[in-house]
Amino acid sequence: MKVCVLGAAGGIGQPLSLLLKLQLPAGSDLSLYDVAPFTPGVAVDLSHIPTDVSVSGFVGDDVEAAMQDADIVVIPAGVPRKPGMTRDDLFNMNAGIVKKLIGAGAKACPNACFAIVTNPVNSTVPIAAEILKAAGVYDKRKLFGVTTLDVIRSITFVAQAAGKSVDDVSVNVIGGHSGVTILPLLSSIDGVDLAQADIEALTPRIQEAGTEVVEAKAGAGSATLSMAQAAARFTASLVAALDGESVTECCYVQVGEDTSSFHAQPVVLGKNGVESIPPLPALSDYEQKVLDDMRGTLEGNISKGLEFANS
Ligand code: LMR
Repeated sequence: MKVCVLGAAGGIGQPLSLLLKLQLPAGSDLSLYDVAPFTPGVAVDLSHIPTDVSVSGFVGDDVEAAMQDADIVVIPAGVPRKPGMTRDDLFNMNAGIVKKLIGAGAKACPNACFAIVTNPVNSTVPIAAEILKAAGVYDKRKLFGVTTLDVIRSITFVAQAAGKSVDDVSVNVIGGHSGVTILPLLSSIDGVDLAQADIEALTPRIQEAGTEVVEAKAGAGSATLSMAQAAARFTASLVAALDGESVTECCYVQVGEDTSSFHAQPVVLGKNGVESIPPLPALSDYEQKVLDDMRGTLEGNISKGLEFANS
C-alpha cells in the first residue's frame, strides 16, 4: 500500500504523517510532499522511527513523483482560517491548490483514492471531481471529503454529556463539513438516549467546534492535531477496505448521478472505494428540519466548486 500525503510539512500534515508512520500496515510506503523546502527533512525524521513503513520526502516540482502509483492520496494542503473567517472564506486561497494537486494526481496515480481535508471541503471535493472528470479518470467511488473530525468530536461531546466511555459511543454525522451543513444524528445513537434539550445544545456545539478551536488558537490557525487523528482514522479505514475488509465510515461523497450531489453520510467502503451507500438512518423532526434548512447552503457550496473547476 502506498499512501501519499500532500501538505505533509504543515500543521495537519506532520502529525498525520507521524500517525500514518505508526499505524500503516507493515510493508507500506509513505510518501510525503509539501512546498516547504524542509519536507525531505520531515521524511528523514520520521524514517528513524522503527516501524516497517518506508518514508520518502518530495518538494517543489516533484509532486507527481511523490504521487506516482499511490493507492491513497490524502490532501491536507492549504491555508487555515483565522478568527472571524468561515471555511468558505478560504475558497480563493485553497481552491487553486486542490485543483493543481488533483491535476497532478490525475496523471501520476489515476486509480488512487483521493481523500480531501483542505477546506472548504464542501467545495474542494466537487472541484476535484471536475478535474478528474476532465482528465478522463474520475471514479466517484474513489473521491472523498474527510468529515471524520465531525464524527470524533461528536463521540467526545456525546460521551461527556451522557457520562459514557468514548469507546461505547458511535455517532453518524451527515450533510457537509461547515457550520449549518454539519448534522450529527444524535437521536439515534445506540445505547445513548439524549434529551431533546441536550440534542439542541450539542448540535450547534458540534457544528461550530472548528470555530471553537480557531478562536482558542487566536490567529495561529485551526484544528491540526484532532484533524490529523481524524484523517489518520479515515485513511486506516480506507487501507483496510482496499485490503478487502468491509468498513463503514461517514464521509462526503457523490451520492447521486452527477457531481452536484455530494453529501456526507455513512458509506460502506470496500476493495474499490465506495462499495455502497445505505439509505440515511431515520431522522427525528428536529434533524429533518436541520437537513432541509442546510440544503441551499450545501448546494451553493457545491455549485461554487463546480463553477471554479470549469472556469
Ligand atoms: C475543523 O473542523 O476544525 C476544520 O475544518 C478546520 C476549520 O477551519 O474549522
